[in-house]
Amino acid sequence: PTVEYDLEAPFEIEYHDSIGSTNDRARELAAGGANDVAVLADEQTGGRGRLERAWRAPSGGVWLSVVCRPTIPLARASQYTLAAAVATATAAREAGVNAGIKWPNDVIVPVGDDGSYRKLAGILTEMEGETDRIEWLVVGIGVNANIDAADLPDEATSIAEEVGEIDRRRFVQRVLEVFDTYRNDLERVIPAWRDLALTLGQRVRVERDGETLVGVARNVTDTGALRVELEGGETVTITAGDCEHLRP
Ligand code: BTN
Repeated sequence: PTVEYDLEAPFEIEYHDSIGSTNDRARELAAGGANDVAVLADEQTGGRGRLERAWRAPSGGVWLSVVCRPTIPLARASQYTLAAAVATATAAREAGVNAGIKWPNDVIVPVGDDGSYRKLAGILTEMEGETDRIEWLVVGIGVNANIDAADLPDEATSIAEEVGEIDRRRFVQRVLEVFDTYRNDLERVIPAWRDLALTLGQRVRVERDGETLVGVARNVTDTGALRVELEGGETVTITAGDCEHLRP
């Protein structure tokens, strides 16, 4: 069922009360040629996270997957993912949540000022196409919106926990509008990401080629890779994976 949203951004929204995974449905639509369609659900029964993890997605969340067909090379696809993190963190901040971004694209809320945090939202991008040109992209955005602490995984928080329940329709509208602004102006994505980043300057633990490295996150490159200054003084570039903020 397509629902009417008062969007400035050019997305058609397909809404489901309950679905396995909005990313799976969006992939189906993408394979059928869809463009600028967003699949939205109140609940997912088989939500998927990054790195093959399961993603808990009870009723009350914002589970959203956007289908796009940009004519960009694969190397620029990460900018779409970062744009989604910027859009989600921006909408959360507008709702009054003290949200920021943990590299590469987790939206988190700091707890105190010792580097600890709780996760508010995550992004899972999937794509098909060739190295020189993408065919389609599905950007999956999962936000713990109106969810009680009892229904959240450990180490997570929700908008309801931080500032009380929000109007999810308005929130989705803002996410899609801000996402649309940045995908049309990819040059602005990394600067916007840096402004919202909580990882830069933090002591972090990252994995590279199965090796665990500890250092201080210094910058992100123009393709979104993390530059980490290791304890020995060497600086390395981490292009994919996860990072953990450590106590100073
Ligand atoms: C992560 O941080 O691991 C990414 C989580 C992404 C979850 C969202 S919810 C909407 C979309 N559908 C899915 O099955 N996953 C993404």
